[in-house]
Amino acid sequence: MSVIKWRESFNIGVDQFDQEHRKILEMINGMFEAIRDQKDKESVVQVCKEVLSYTEYHFANEEKALQEVDYPDLEEQLAEHARLRSEAERYQVLINNDAPKGATDFYLFLREWLIYHILVCDKKYVPYFKETTDLG
Ligand SMILES: [Fe+2]
Repeated sequence: MSVIKWRESFNIGVDQFDQEHRKILEMINGMFEAIRDQKDKESVVQVCKEVLSYTEYHFANEEKALQEVDYPDLEEQLAEHARLRSEAERYQVLINNDAPKGATDFYLFLREWLIYHILVCDKKYVPYFKETTDLG
């Protein structure tokens, strides 16, 4: 297990969202460090909460921006955001029961999730988004 490094291919070309994705990646890496350094349960739980709360902030920004441009696949994007929320709830139960293991599993899930979120879900809206806004 190791931290995730930002790759050039993670940039979708919309400045605000690239910055938010980078921040989520850093926060997920912070989870890794808390687990690696065997921080106490409270600290690990706190780091997980912070990742989720910042991710919610990012989702809200993304959803608002996509609504404003009438993105035709908005429902699909909302479903993807909902999927992360329900997975997060499931992992929170696991973390409460067994913090190091639950947090490790959640960390591994979040790594995969973030890469999928950026490379598949978000890259899909970029051409439409750029056509209809002057952002990016
Ligand atoms: Fe995103």
